[in-house]
Amino acid sequence: FGLLKRVNAYLGEYLSKKSRNKESFSDNCFSRSSSNSSIVTEEGLFEQPEPLASGTAVMEKILLRRSSLLRDQQQAWQESLEGREMLEFRQNLPAYKEKDTILIAILQNQVVIISGETGCGKTTQIPQFILESEIDSARGAFCSIICTQPRRISAISVSERVASERGEKLGESVGYKVRLEGIKGRDTRLLFCTTGILLRRLLVDRNLKGVTHVIVDEIHERGMNEDFLLIVLKDLLPRRPELKLILMSATLDAELFSSYFDGAPLIHIPDALRAADFKDFSRQTQESLSCWNPDCIGFNLIEYLLSYICENERPGAVLVFMTGWDDISSLKDKLQAHPILGDPSRVLLLTCHGSMASSEQKLIFEEPEDGVRKIVLTTNIAETSITINDVVFVLDCGKAKETSYDALNNTPCLLPSWVSKVSTQQRRGRAGRVQPGECHHLYPRCVYDAFTEYQLPEILRTPLQSLCLQIKSLKLGSISEFLSRALQSPKLLAVQNAIEYLKVIGALDENENLTVLGRYLTMLPMEPKLGKMLILGAILNCLDPVLTIVAGLSVRDPFLTPLDKKDLAEAAKLQFSHDHSDHLALVRAYEGWKEAEKDLAGYDYCWKNFLSAQSMKAIDSLREEFLSLLKDTGLIDSYATSCNGWSYDQHLSRAVICYGLYPGICSVVHNEKSFSLKTMEDGPVLLYSNSVNARESRIPYPWLVFNEKIKVNSVFLRDSTAVSDSVLLLFGGSISRGDVDGHLKMLGGYLEFFMQPAIAEKYLSLRREFDELIQNK
Ligand code: CDP
Ligand code: MG
Repeated sequence: FGLLKRVNAYLGEYLSKKSRNKESFSDNCFSRSSSNSSIVTEEGLFEQPEPLASGTAVMEKILLRRSSLLRDQQQAWQESLEGREMLEFRQNLPAYKEKDTILIAILQNQVVIISGETGCGKTTQIPQFILESEIDSARGAFCSIICTQPRRISAISVSERVASERGEKLGESVGYKVRLEGIKGRDTRLLFCTTGILLRRLLVDRNLKGVTHVIVDEIHERGMNEDFLLIVLKDLLPRRPELKLILMSATLDAELFSSYFDGAPLIHIPDALRAADFKDFSRQTQESLSCWNPDCIGFNLIEYLLSYICENERPGAVLVFMTGWDDISSLKDKLQAHPILGDPSRVLLLTCHGSMASSEQKLIFEEPEDGVRKIVLTTNIAETSITINDVVFVLDCGKAKETSYDALNNTPCLLPSWVSKVSTQQRRGRAGRVQPGECHHLYPRCVYDAFTEYQLPEILRTPLQSLCLQIKSLKLGSISEFLSRALQSPKLLAVQNAIEYLKVIGALDENENLTVLGRYLTMLPMEPKLGKMLILGAILNCLDPVLTIVAGLSVRDPFLTPLDKKDLAEAAKLQFSHDHSDHLALVRAYEGWKEAEKDLAGYDYCWKNFLSAQSMKAIDSLREEFLSLLKDTGLIDSYATSCNGWSYDQHLSRAVICYGLYPGICSVVHNEKSFSLKTMEDGPVLLYSNSVNARESRIPYPWLVFNEKIKVNSVFLRDSTAVSDSVLLLFGGSISRGDVDGHLKMLGGYLEFFMQPAIAEKYLSLRREFDELIQNK
């Protein structure tokens, strides 16, 4: 009771202070400029060519003058020696041969779909063709081309490449924008950005005023954001008849898109480069799937093949497709201990994944010194988004981490799964671009035969909560009606589950409208549960541990459990625990690391404690990122340098964790020697063995809240925190104003187990007060 009263009193004071200080929440929140000058605000970045309203003849003149400047620059570059060489390189790309066909099609149609193999020049050339033809037509300064990329790394690297092909620095006619980072100048006419950034722009500018061309790249990946963007753009086209939409795909199955856009023309770029032949090897020896153990493809085989290639084969880089980041980093450790592969004078060992730094990224494209072999361990990002020219050998493990989602029991799973046949071809195609290549498939033929043709689109295999929030914040009407217009609509049940979840966590009210909390959540580009933690952490003034927890949940598990040292690793993790919480264990581990870093001993600290130094660094930088996102929401003051007050109160932290993770909750039932766990939906569940709670025989609280449950054979919970009845009652879920009774009933499901009616009533009245305070803000 003490805690609840303290929290409610504090909250009341906080919110009334906030509303006195600040204008009420408005849609303009995105235009608030940040105090950090290296971060460009959304508004700043999308400042368009000045609008040509009536009576702006002067402006028209200025733009015409800028256009002719652009043209002069372009001509000068193309006449220079370097420029001529660059042009020659470009002219040899297959896409260049189709330049006229493409430009004419764009001129004659509002929507054009272009397909061509990876590396043929779609991403770097097609936006440039449009830009150059606009500049040649003397209206270069009037155009504004946006080209979306599914990942930040490709948006950055492609914009750099295109700028250098044009003999410019970034921020002249070419720029980029990804979350919290971007370079764009007054004359930038071609902007590469992530799909998420364009969606956020649509939030404040639903007609994309001033934009002349939108290019959506890598549509074959069928990412959730891209599928979502296509519905929005399809609605927009009739409102903006002069807007051009170009879709680009690395696979040939583009008919689907053509029929979605009423028979838009398809242009295929033939692959002239693919003259070089390549050999395919697969593990023929194993006869059938049943006698074949997928774990065997493990690292030993890869290590063997790599050392064989290094010793016996002709020069050329090796690209190794691995399942996910954890595999890559363990394999890297293993290879570094190898006498040949770990010798930097013979092997340049690099990794390639979605969140790598741009300095790391550049290395991948560079040619190594003579006699040194470049080996790149990569996730499926190098399948289509990144082209490394000198690859001769490809090793393909045949798997990728894929989120899948089982709508029936509402459980998301992130599991390694076999890739599709199309992915296999893409991976193989990464070898032998400039000289004959070889591809080693590390799985038998019979496994390949069982691969599906294409991967299922993300919208059909992941939970839709964030997407639903976005639909609401873009004011696109009814969620299910909107999603029914997708290229391939998700199952009704999956949509209903997402809406239900958003109602339970208080982001939507009973009528599916965004609540205040929901609106704040749409400003935080992360899973709603993580956003909720940040928001409450800010309000309750215990942001410091919460930043660590949220960052920790956004990176790969920092607690390593090498298979051969499992016990040692688990024991190491236990030192950080005494709070019955994996999340708080992470907070302590991070703090220890931070201390050790001061003496430059962070790496030793990680080594001793079985922690991933890379994850620790990632957490460190994500904390900063989240902090600045929170500043943009206005929930904390923009001058806060680190976190608003160091108040590590484990009860408050527990409360925030519960607030975020609800309804991920299970009850703890003790028997004589140990305890068992149960959720309402699944019945008995188990803990992952590396959870600090898995080693305990008693949990001094009746509940565990958890971040994730994964169905393997049984349902397993990952990362849990024990909470008390009072914390659950106060912070679990949210009572939306319209439906107090319904909500009480739901909480009552839990209440019946353990509460006296009188006590329950008292708790609930505090609870009502708390929710009213949050929702009335
Ligand atoms: O988009 P698509 O896969 O069709 O090809 P692209 O990304 O436009 O790349 C075309 C060619 O440009 C590649 O084959 C590379 O030779 C070159 N390129 C490069 O050298 N450096 C980059 N950062 C990107 C592309
Ligand atoms: Mg591309």
